[in-house]
Amino acid sequence: MNIRFMAGLALAALIPVLAYAAAAQKPVLDAYAVAAKAENTGFSGFSAERGKVFFLAKHDASSETPSCTTCHTTDPTKAGQTRAGKDIAPMAVSKTPDRYTDAEKTEKWFLRNCQSVLGRACTAQEKGDFITFMASL
Ligand code: HEC
Repeated sequence: MNIRFMAGLALAALIPVLAYAAAAQKPVLDAYAVAAKAENTGFSGFSAERGKVFFLAKHDASSETPSCTTCHTTDPTKAGQTRAGKDIAPMAVSKTPDRYTDAEKTEKWFLRNCQSVLGRACTAQEKGDFITFMASL
């Protein structure tokens, strides 16, 4: 088998998985898109790149939790850790497929974590960008 053919096979095997991940997160993402439009009439879609920048950024609101990466680590495909030392399942959808599928759970943790890291609620744009980034990994 040549390498091109094998790469093609590998890709073909991947596509259904990606489609499934996107489909499972779609209702939550769609709801954030509606909210983002309401917040900003210039809203033109979510961006994985912006989500990545947001995830890695350091903020000034708290010296104990300056960044999402404080608990989720800089590699979302790896398990994170609470400050009490408990494991947190990876944030990447490819590793934890049921992430961002339960709107209530997702919103509850955005509220809590954005408040401690940013000192304010996240905007719908920030939440959608974050999920889009996590779904792209
Ligand atoms: C103090 C530690 C800590 C920090 C800092 C933190 N998180 Fe979390 N996060 C958690 C824990 C604990 C959970 C819940 C456990 C789980 O879902 O596995 C969680 C869950 C979440 C979820 C729920 C995901 C789902 O399954 O629907 C989202 C969304 C999230 N965090 C976003 C963020 C964002 C965005 C930031 C940065 C602004 C952040 N977190 C910073 C500890 C943290």
